[in-house]
Amino acid sequence: MSNDPELRVSKIRQGTVIDHISAGQALNVLAILSIDGTRGEEVSVGMNVPSDRLSRKDIVKVEGRELSQEELDVLSLIAPAATINIIRNYDVVEKHLVEPPETVTGILACPNPNCITTEDEPVDSHFEVLAEGVRCSYCETIIRDDLAAHITN
Ligand code: CTP
Ligand code: ZN
Repeated sequence: MSNDPELRVSKIRQGTVIDHISAGQALNVLAILSIDGTRGEEVSVGMNVPSDRLSRKDIVKVEGRELSQEELDVLSLIAPAATINIIRNYDVVEKHLVEPPETVTGILACPNPNCITTEDEPVDSHFEVLAEGVRCSYCETIIRDDLAAHITN
């Protein structure tokens, strides 16, 4: 029982538990969800907690909120083993795995300063997901490493 992460991060009443996040990625998950704590969001975070499935994992519990498909898509790229648990009245009413999307719109910023998506035009970023990273659909710049560093908000 002393290894039970539930003892470290208490249960929530209503909202989303993002479980089995790759260890070390919790703060990047918060960035994807635009959670920085300044808007009164009720959020619990566990980092590097023991896990059966992964040796260590991060976990994020967000009270009163469900995630959009765009958020889930980017999340799948930095936390491919994550489980999304929808909680209502303390019960897990839905549980699903994240799945890598074919493309990602918004949330990630193209690193090319001359890309149409980074200029003043109202054009959302759009990337194709490849095995080795993501590729901007407008200028073909590829982001291979540290996707999390390209999260906007
Ligand atoms: N959880 C929570 N608040 C609730 C219900 C569940 O924070 N009211 C959390 C649990 O602590 C756990 C996750 O949501 O981290 C999934 O809950 P559950 O399906 O009951 O746990 P497991 O069976 O261990 O999940 P899995 O098989 O996905 O590892
Ligand atoms: Zn671009």
